Amino acid sequence: MLDDLGYAYFLRAVRRLTGVDLAHYRQGQMRRRLDALVQRVGARNYLEYAKLLERDPARLQEFRDYFTINVTEFFRDPERFRYLEQRVLPELLRARTGLNVWSAACSTGAEPYSVAILLRELAPRGPHRILATDVDRTVLARARQGDCYGPSDVRNVSPERLARHFVRAADGATWAVRPEVRALVEFREHNLLDLAPHGSFDLILCRNVVIYFTEEAKRQLYARLAAALRPGGVLFVGGTEIVPAGGELGLQPSGPSFYRKDRAEHALPRLVRASVTR
Ligand SMILES: C[S@@+](CC[C@H](N)C(=O)[O-])C[C@H]1O[C@@H](n2cnc3c(N)ncnc32)[C@H](O)[C@@H]1O
Repeated sequence: MLDDLGYAYFLRAVRRLTGVDLAHYRQGQMRRRLDALVQRVGARNYLEYAKLLERDPARLQEFRDYFTINVTEFFRDPERFRYLEQRVLPELLRARTGLNVWSAACSTGAEPYSVAILLRELAPRGPHRILATDVDRTVLARARQGDCYGPSDVRNVSPERLARHFVRAADGATWAVRPEVRALVEFREHNLLDLAPHGSFDLILCRNVVIYFTEEAKRQLYARLAAALRPGGVLFVGGTEIVPAGGELGLQPSGPSFYRKDRAEHALPRLVRASVTR
């Protein structure tokens, strides 16, 4: 019933309306979720659903919200964050006092705010810059507010950290990050399938988003992330993720879920050699 011809039209409409090319997402998983959504809104096929998206901005927003899976929490994978705190950040901070960090696909902000909290504890003077991006405007608006975190979002935050970096909202049930933490993070809309934002980053977090991408989209993304890192900079990926052929991009495993970019003097000769010997 959910025909393929209509699906091609739908893909083009989504690309035109949202800038997101769903062809770069894994089809099986994506189709199952989308089929369920199309049925839920009562459209008979993808063509009908695409027409609905074209004329109804509320439906378009509903689609955006649905296809981006926004699950996140502070200090997600606590042992990896401990490694970040105890090994990775101290080493980066030995090389420079102010760090340039990018949290790519940041959802409601728990991830970049977790890094902001660590930097405030480890090197409060900075100056640090944390850029946090996502393709989903709804989560970005919540992230900028920084005041919507429920008990499950903060379950990995120690009572000391809660007291130091958060305030309890008026309803008593949710938490807001303190203004000093919020001030460290700049949120911006960005599609990871496009070019990386301008900058040369000491640390890039790209976690729990590539699982939805095709192998080719992943390969291209990691190449862009590697290029956006400073020599010696670190890429932090999701707990079950590995960077395929990271060595070819100059990314060497340097801890659980961490890759360090070669220093220029090592990376350059290899790239030059590769192009000369072909
Ligand atoms: C599961 S959340 C991960 C959040 C956070 N990185 C973490 O690990 O807790 C995935 C996020 O990826 C975002 N996303 C999906 N496709 C994207 C794309 N093409 N560009 C940027 N963000 C994208 C979604 O909007 C969602 O907020």
